[in-house]
Amino acid sequence: MEEENIHHANHGYPLHGGRICSVFLSKIVKGPMKTGDLVRPSIIFFFLLIGAFISLHWIDVVPLAISDISLQKTIPSFNSSVVINCSITCPIHSSKTIKLDESPSSELCPEYFRWIYQDLNPWKEKGITKEMVESAGSEAYMRIVVVNGKVYWKKLKRAFQTRDVFNIWGILQLLRLYPGKLPDLDIMFECGDRPVIQKRDYGGSNANNVTPMFHYCASDSTLDIVFPDWSFWGWPELHIKPWEALSKDLEEGNQRVKWIDRIPYAHWKGGPGSSLARKALLKCNLTDQQDWGALIYALNWGLVRQEMYKSTDLANQCTHRYKIYVEGRAWSVSEKYILACDSMSLLVTPHYYDFFSRSLLPSIHYWPIKENDICRSIKSAVNWGNKHPEKVQEIGKAGSKFIQEELKMKSVYDYMFHLLYQYGKLLKYKPTVPEGSVEVCLETMACSGTELEKTFKMNSMVSGPSDTSPCTMPPPYDPTTLQSFLERKANLTKQVERWEASENT
Ligand SMILES: *[C@@H]1O[C@H](CO)[C@@H](O)[C@H](O)[C@H]1NC(C)=O
Ligand SMILES: *[C@@H]1O[C@H](CO)[C@@H](O)[C@H](O)[C@H]1NC(C)=O
Ligand SMILES: *[C@@H]1O[C@H](CO)[C@@H](O)[C@H](O)[C@H]1NC(C)=O
Ligand SMILES: *[C@@H]1O[C@H](CO)[C@@H](O)[C@H](O)[C@H]1NC(C)=O
Repeated sequence: MEEENIHHANHGYPLHGGRICSVFLSKIVKGPMKTGDLVRPSIIFFFLLIGAFISLHWIDVVPLAISDISLQKTIPSFNSSVVINCSITCPIHSSKTIKLDESPSSELCPEYFRWIYQDLNPWKEKGITKEMVESAGSEAYMRIVVVNGKVYWKKLKRAFQTRDVFNIWGILQLLRLYPGKLPDLDIMFECGDRPVIQKRDYGGSNANNVTPMFHYCASDSTLDIVFPDWSFWGWPELHIKPWEALSKDLEEGNQRVKWIDRIPYAHWKGGPGSSLARKALLKCNLTDQQDWGALIYALNWGLVRQEMYKSTDLANQCTHRYKIYVEGRAWSVSEKYILACDSMSLLVTPHYYDFFSRSLLPSIHYWPIKENDICRSIKSAVNWGNKHPEKVQEIGKAGSKFIQEELKMKSVYDYMFHLLYQYGKLLKYKPTVPEGSVEVCLETMACSGTELEKTFKMNSMVSGPSDTSPCTMPPPYDPTTLQSFLERKANLTKQVERWEASENT
């Protein structure tokens, strides 16, 4: 990601332990932020950013609260019964063995876990060799190796903001939740926006010797293995809280304005420049001359930054009956926030999917919008919706229910668990600690970074080993069920088109 690197070079993001930046910025920021201050700014900033999260190619986000590396010796976690000793070395723990004989959980994993099998399909027959992993070459941002329950991080490239740090933090939590249950692992991770493993480079669908690359999203023409993105543990640069707390806020926020009292327009707010679809969307805005049923707001990042410091009085973000989701450079982490609003989500034809989005269905969880005719398509959706408020509320609720119930942190961890477990079983070699890597653990990671980073890490720390097993995997798709799932999705889209057509005649 060349652009990203330029941004780093020019603006010196205070990454994890960036001492020089921290010193510089501490002159701007009055003092370190206290935990109690977090709530409001994060909500406020969140409103400003809905729809804008990916394609962070705006140059100058300055994190709110930057402070130097903590000099504290220990920090209490959110749950104060757990205290982290910032000794900066990892404790010596006995090596863990895999427990295979445990009875499986009676709880069935959500349907979207079935895509794990699809994602690992290229290696199903022959497994994964070290050569395949190492063929990731310069595309990977980091290599994560787990040997006997210990995690090693080899940084290969500088990731944007703290993406890599928070992703590893998530993996450490997974190991804390399910200690001794994962096999040894050797993972290449790509932390940019777009997937990189092109199907066409490996001979299409009968792909051979594919590089296994973990990434936040993929598309129909790529073979990246999708993995939950960093935002589930927090996005400090944007003040987006860890998902566990944020999803609760959203649930509460939904109570504030009933659907029927919401503005009968489709709403989008975000950074407009990052995709053609976003540029096209700007033209759908309400003016004296036109009414496409859409209110579109382009974010001015300078202003956002200012408001971050000042404004305290923004209303709930779920104030419109329809919320538009449109991709930027690739998938956007905003999708879960938009869907969680109880408003009907209007999804402009997505080209990328993350780990859960392939199971979302048109007319059940969202309303599809044609990307090549965005304004007219939004207008049809809004017209139809305002005439069929019950159906629209049902779709809005189903989308939110999917997010609130199937995307709980427990499911996110279980997804990571099953994916990594199966991936580990495919490895044809015993992973070893690569040269140039460092061991990472709660102790080394929790105590560095800005105050906000540390707070988010503490707030997203799991309190200890789970007393239940991971959920039980649903069976893989056989070709027929997969085909019929895709057909159902296509049928549902046609159904929406029929509804819209009947409205226009
Ligand atoms: C933190 O760890 C260090 C080194 O292991 C140890 O000497 C020290 O007593 C610990 N501090 C606390 C408060 O537990
Ligand atoms: C869209 O219209 C609203 C209301 O008139 C306005 O506040 C907003 O700035 C417009 N958005 C863009 C991108 O021009
Ligand atoms: C804090 O952690 C303890 C021990 O893991 C647990 O029993 C307790 O329920 C947790 N409390 C909260 C408020 O999460
Ligand atoms: C999709 O629609 C076609 C034609 O209406 C129908 O024959 C088929 O059974 C439907 N498939 C699914 C999976 O719903």
